[in-house]
Amino acid sequence: MARDVKPNVGAARGGSRRGGPRADGAGDARGGRRVSARGLAASLLVRLEREPATRASELLQGALGQLGDVRDRALATELVYGVLRWRWRLDHALERHLARGVAGLEPMGRALMRVGAHQLLVLDRIPKEIAVSATQDAARALGLGRLTGILNAVLRKVAASGEVWPGGDDDPAIAVRASLPRWIVAALREAFPDAVEREALALRERPRVSLRPTLARGGSEAALAALAAEGIETQAVASGLIEVVAGDPFATRAAGEGLFVAQDGSGLVVVDEVAAACGGALADKRVLDLCAGRGVKATALADRGARVVAVDVSRDKLDELLRVAARLGVHERIEATLALDVASEEAATALASLGSFDAVLVDAPCSGLGTLRRHPEIAWRAAPEDVSALAALQARLVAAGAGRVAPGGGLVYAVCTFIGKEGAVSLPSPFEAVARIDLAPSSGLDAFQVRRWIRSV
Ligand SMILES: C[S@@+](CC[C@H](N)C(=O)[O-])C[C@H]1O[C@@H](n2cnc3c(N)ncnc32)[C@H](O)[C@@H]1O
Repeated sequence: MARDVKPNVGAARGGSRRGGPRADGAGDARGGRRVSARGLAASLLVRLEREPATRASELLQGALGQLGDVRDRALATELVYGVLRWRWRLDHALERHLARGVAGLEPMGRALMRVGAHQLLVLDRIPKEIAVSATQDAARALGLGRLTGILNAVLRKVAASGEVWPGGDDDPAIAVRASLPRWIVAALREAFPDAVEREALALRERPRVSLRPTLARGGSEAALAALAAEGIETQAVASGLIEVVAGDPFATRAAGEGLFVAQDGSGLVVVDEVAAACGGALADKRVLDLCAGRGVKATALADRGARVVAVDVSRDKLDELLRVAARLGVHERIEATLALDVASEEAATALASLGSFDAVLVDAPCSGLGTLRRHPEIAWRAAPEDVSALAALQARLVAAGAGRVAPGGGLVYAVCTFIGKEGAVSLPSPFEAVARIDLAPSSGLDAFQVRRWIRSV
């Protein structure tokens, strides 16, 4: 059954503030020809498929310098994020015209085919003939002239026939319409049985970049004024965050001076829960952040006055946390950092040496499906069989954290996923569950599960 409703597609958006590797892999321009936006996008997509640990934002940030024109950079960004998001939908349209399916194509052929289909089916500003011919040109410039025939034949058929949307409310149909792997749709059905498609499509939206103004650097007023002075269009939102309407805030002097840091609203919900675990205010409370990572939440806690001990299995991330804390002017409230596998046998002794805390935050490693709006590549990589191992690790991390909560203190557990198994953590007496927050993808924030317990004695 044909449908005439297209999923909502937002405007192109750029990468992250961090640097990253150059796109010098499988598909760079050869024979001295300049790389095109389409060719670069296809090369990066091949790398993202090959390198499961690489983030699209970091790869783009490192590679976009190869394109001189700002419009080419915007197009390459749009194509990479577009294909990452709409892969299952694009493949559904392509499959009808490929005898051996999309999987039967060589990696670069597959990437170029998806880049072509994205221009034809999702973008509405590129004339169809240009979409087809420029994708063939990109193949030639990559030294892959042999692909031009199949690209031409298939993309012309896609241009002529458009999309045939599957009807019905079963998982395979929603998986095509929302462009998600079927197992993720099944997980959404378990979490939101009455709103599967709404929640699935919410995962495909593009969030605005949001910023947390640094209280230690003058708060919202200072950040808004500095961003406006550097030509960045923003708006303050109710949560206290700043949303970016236009411009790259991370390329500003204000960013270098630590007036703000990137932060999604769901992260603030977690920080508020830690404050609640401390009785309402964080000032001078001692907080243990057991999975502190690069410190988005640890620096928020410190900025609100907490004294934070930051633990993570990765020393590199903790070093980055310290750099960010210094930039934001909150480093003196990061009491210590400790690189430690919190799930290991030795962890209990190492953690005991830190004393006890008013609150412990376990912002655990998880499937990350709640952040698909920002990181669509996660849907390419996450697998249902990962969930059980993650749930076991999450339970160990919470148990380790519970041992460090002072009587009267609290423990907050957070995962950026809607998978129920990852939110199903329990703690025995003397802990009492006091708060449970389940943010759905349609909340407009990253989907999150947050749990809070207090320790009574
Ligand atoms: C969701 S991220 C934390 C994000 C961080 N709290 C923030 O706000 O920026 C989860 C973190 O858990 C860390 N991690 C994973 N396994 C761990 C373990 N066994 N022990 C300690 N940290 C671990 C990862 O390195 C990662 O930084």
